Amino acid sequence: EKGGWPSFMAKEVAEQPDAVANTIRGRIQGDAVVIPELDGLDELFIGINRVIITACGTASYAALVGKYAIEQWARVPVDVELAHEFRYRDPVIGDDTLVVSISQSGETMDTLMAVKYARERGARTLSVCNTQGATIPRESDAVVYTHAGPEVAVASTKAFSAQITALLLLGLHMGRVRGTLTSAVASDAVAELQSLPEKVAQVLAEETEHVSQLAGWMADTRSVLFLGRHVGFPIALEGALKLKEISYIHAEGFAAGELKHGPIALIEPGQPVFVIVPSPRHSSLVHSKVVSNIQEIRARGARVIVVAEEGDAAVLPYADEVIRIPLTGALFEPLLAVVPLQIFAMALATAKGLDVDQPRNLAKSVTVE
Ligand code: BG6
Repeated sequence: EKGGWPSFMAKEVAEQPDAVANTIRGRIQGDAVVIPELDGLDELFIGINRVIITACGTASYAALVGKYAIEQWARVPVDVELAHEFRYRDPVIGDDTLVVSISQSGETMDTLMAVKYARERGARTLSVCNTQGATIPRESDAVVYTHAGPEVAVASTKAFSAQITALLLLGLHMGRVRGTLTSAVASDAVAELQSLPEKVAQVLAEETEHVSQLAGWMADTRSVLFLGRHVGFPIALEGALKLKEISYIHAEGFAAGELKHGPIALIEPGQPVFVIVPSPRHSSLVHSKVVSNIQEIRARGARVIVVAEEGDAAVLPYADEVIRIPLTGALFEPLLAVVPLQIFAMALATAKGLDVDQPRNLAKSVTVE
């Protein structure tokens, strides 16, 4: 039950520190990530030449974050394929391919059919799933469960955070097994993982009221854009999807670098744009590119709302609103940056008097193709 929360979605957003902590639990040994369920699969991880991650909706954005993490740590090429596109062409897959599926419910028909298709063509399959014993994990060679607990609201929040967490763990596990991870990188990542639940809780504590107020002021907004670079890009996509799903507002997410190739034509005075700003500590180049994207849209009158690391002062001259997230590793930022976007969508839907748990036309689990 809702336990005093106004909606299941509000409860599930607030449960994210636990969803992340529970997904990590039992998967760290000393300074390394060891996923016990993947015991005995070392040869598989060493032998593969390619990973394809397949999923639908929110899970496909977690997949995009997973691509960056697995490529960086395990040095194997990763493609992300929407499950319903994957099966209806003639993808190049074989026994050197690992097909990772991601599904909260484990019952999404599009994703299930993609997994079966991959298996029939000789690929190895691994599922990331939140539901014990669901169909997709049963149809897969291996499973890494996310431990977000039951998710009731149609719009996914804590399951998304748990999926990203599981993919970070998978990237670190694979990197260790493949010998592509230095022990310094591994132990930094482990320390970062362990501090994440507290940092997610900090974002919830420090930004919920601010972001909800912002949403209240914007209840008449007709369109919102979201920009991100690197792992901020999938978060921009997810921020836009949350808004579409529950507040029925037109929203689009873009890779910030695409701006000048088209979307900048949409910017007119007053257009709200969220920008996920990567930390300047990880790459001053990537950070400065995003800051110049912000300058470009601001010069055209956009109302700029940035999600930026604490202490990042470079964004201040160009931002109408600044939402702060704590310092973390580059690949971990999505777990912090997504939280204010979820709160924003939820508060905007609430301000419009909508039922955030049961948005029109949507089902929690789509078991038809
Ligand atoms: C949808 C849900 O249709 O299925 C989304 O409305 C979800 O919230 C998507 O992201 C995928 O679901 P699952 O259970 O496979 O993760």
